[in-house]
Parts: sequence; structure tokens; C-alpha cells
Amino acid sequence: MFRIVEARTAGLNIRQYTIAAPRIARKQRPGQFVILRVKENGERIPLTIKSADPAAGTITIVVQTVGKTTSLLNCLETGDAILDVVGPLGRPSEIKKYGTAAIVAGSVGTAMALPTARALMDADNHVIFIEGARSREMVIFEDEVRAASHEAYILTDDGSYGEHGLVTKKLEEILTAGRKLDFVLAVGPVPMMRAVARVTAPLGIKTMVSLNSIMVDGTGMCGGCRVLLGNQSKFACVDGPEFDASLVNFDVLMQRNAMYRGQECQSLKAFDQHRAEELAQHRAAVATKEKETAQLRAKLEKQGLEAQGETHHV
Ligand code: FAD
Ligand code: NAD
Ligand code: FES
Repeated sequence: MFRIVEARTAGLNIRQYTIAAPRIARKQRPGQFVILRVKENGERIPLTIKSADPAAGTITIVVQTVGKTTSLLNCLETGDAILDVVGPLGRPSEIKKYGTAAIVAGSVGTAMALPTARALMDADNHVIFIEGARSREMVIFEDEVRAASHEAYILTDDGSYGEHGLVTKKLEEILTAGRKLDFVLAVGPVPMMRAVARVTAPLGIKTMVSLNSIMVDGTGMCGGCRVLLGNQSKFACVDGPEFDASLVNFDVLMQRNAMYRGQECQSLKAFDQHRAEELAQHRAAVATKEKETAQLRAKLEKQGLEAQGETHHV
């Protein structure tokens, strides 16, 4: 069981969770993720580690509600627990001194890109952060974005906050002004990452994208997260999740991500009808599991003490 030590709302349908996971907190690096399962028989979903505190033994993740599992997760509060959290998984971001690095992030991609932005700053890059969201209530972590960059630009699709327009508008403006970018990382919805790749490819700017393919085991065994790079197949969980944007076949990624759309919609609908019962069942299951664990621990301690006692007698 992994205890939620702090839960808070970061934006519309976006929640941040700090979870006790000491081993992951010690090992994780920017760009890596965890795969978690909220409850028994639940789906496994990948989520990027936004930050970690090895001293406190915690990791922080940010979750956007999109389907059944993220809906259940985003009902949880401080003190609740998650059944399994496995990680850190995936290859860390390649951090080095590029020169000027632009981070282009859409919606929850902002949280996912923050650790890499911080690490690029620490590696002496000039970091430009472009954050895009549909509207004001979906702009997240603005203070952290400003702290993790030398220049930050916030845009909304409807112009309700920051500048009006898509992230690619700002990226194009920067390039049209004659600025030289040595590296770009794009993290966001697939159409956004493809649009960024189309801007940077003709200019030959090294561009990485963080691919959100469907994942199951996270070990390279199930094939669920297969992506096409040129004519080579790769697994996003072990070879990625960051890949060279100029090689990614975004059409195949979109097709594969839409494969279970019908079932996903059905299961979200069913969850919405039984939300309160599902949450109550999860909390009851956690309480039972914790009681069983406490009983087992007490039994083992008692056996240990008895064994020690026997040793003393001998
Ligand atoms: P599913 O039921 O699996 O639905 C998935 C897709 O179906 C979504 O794209 C959704 O838009 C679509 N969908 C669902 N219901 C409907 C509907 N009614 N109408 C139309 N479309 C619908 N997400 C984060 O929030 N934070 C992260 O840090 C993060 N990191 C990730 C890291 C990696 C390496 C990867 C691969 C993905 C990451 N994701 C992250 C994405 C996250 O894993 C998925 O959003 C999650 O698995 C969705 O699970 P679900 O059961 O809630 O949704
Ligand atoms: P969204 O549609 O609100 O887009 C966020 C921002 O991306 C927009 O504000 C805009 O600036 C930019 N953008 C979107 N489409 C664009 C385009 N065609 N051209 C240029 N810029 C564009 O995003 P959302 O609805 O919050 O997320 C949609 C899906 O993407 C969700 O299912 C989410 O899980 C997924 N997602 C995946 C990742 C990832 O792992 N790479 C990150 C974020 C979101
Ligand atoms: Fe199974 Fe990547 S998630 S191979």
C-alpha cells in the first residue's frame, strides 16, 4: 500500500498527489515515470514523476482526469492509499549543455516537463518554457514554470489568461525573431507534439517528444506501448518515453491510442454511475488489507521475540 500524504487540486480536472514511496524517491531521475494500480483488478496506468523528496521518502505525481482509472484516482484524498506503485520506469531525459533549450508543454504535460526543465537549467542551459492550456482554469504550476526557466510564456487557446493562441504560435514567433534554439522538448497531446515537430524539423532543431502510448506491464514484454520510429518498432516503456520527434510516426500512435476508445468510454460511463460505491469499496479494501498486514506484522514480531527468548535460554 502506498499512502497519499498530500492531495490537492492543481487545475480543472487536474490533481497533484504526494505519495510515500521511499525507494522510488531515492532512484528517480527527470523524465521517468511510475505505473500504478489504484485497486485490485484495476487497470495499470503510467504517470510521470513530477518531483521527489528522498529525505521525506515521497514522490509527487500530477493526474488529469480522462477516463475511468484517472477518475477514480482523482477522487482520492490525503490519507487514502494506492495499491501498487512501480518505478522508476523508462529512460531518464538526456540532460546536457545544449545552449538554448525550449520546453513546449500542453495541459498536464507542463507537470511532466518540469523536472527536465529544472535539470536543463542546472546544466547551464538557457531555458525557455512555453506552457499552453485551453483556458485560465487549466493553467497549472505557473510559479514553478517561472522558477524552472529563464523565460516563461503562458498561452491559452481562448485568450482567457496569458497570450492568446496555441503553443506553436509562440514557438514560431521565437524562431521568426531569429532566435537560435539548440534543443526542444515537447510534452502534451499527440496533435500538439506533431505540430511542434513540423515547426522544428525544417530547421533541423533537435526535438524530443514524450510519447503517451498505452502501457500495461512497463517492462517491454507485453508490446502494448509499441511505437513506430521510421521503420523500426520501439517500446515506449523501456526505449522511451522520450523519442526523436523527426522519426516518430504520429499517425500510428494516434491509431493505437484510439484502439480501445469504445471500451474506455463505456467503462467511464459505468464508473460515473457508481462513483460513490467504487470509492467506498476501495477504502474498505484498503482498511481490510491494512488490518491484515498489522496482524501479520504483530505475529511475526511475537514469533521473533519468542525465538530470541529461546536462543537466550540455550
Ligand atoms: P482511459 O479509459 O484509458 O482513456 C484513455 C483515452 O481515452 C484518453 O486519451 C481519453 O481522452 C480518451 N477517452 C476516455 N473517455 C473518453 C470519452 N468519453 N470521450 C472521448 N475520449 C475519451 N497522464 C497524466 O495525467 N499525468 C502524467 O504525469 C502522465 N504521464 C504519463 C507518462 C507516460 C510514460 C505515459 C505513457 C502516459 C502518461 N499519462 C499521464 C497519460 C495517462 O497514463 C493516461 O491518461 C491514463 O492511462 C488514462 O487512463 P484512464 O483509465 O483514466 O483513461
Ligand atoms: P488540450 O487539447 O487542452 O491541449 C493543450 C495545449 O496543447 C493547448 O492549449 C495548445 O496550446 C496545445 N495544442 C493542442 N493541440 C494542438 C495543435 N494541434 N497544434 C498546436 N498546439 C496544440 O490537451 P488536453 O485535452 O488537456 O489533453 C488531451 C490528451 O492528451 C489527454 O488524453 C491527455 O492525457 C493527453 N496528454 C498526453 C501527454 C503526454 O503524455 N505526452 C501530455 C499531456 C496530455
Ligand atoms: Fe508492455 Fe511497454 S508497456 S511493452
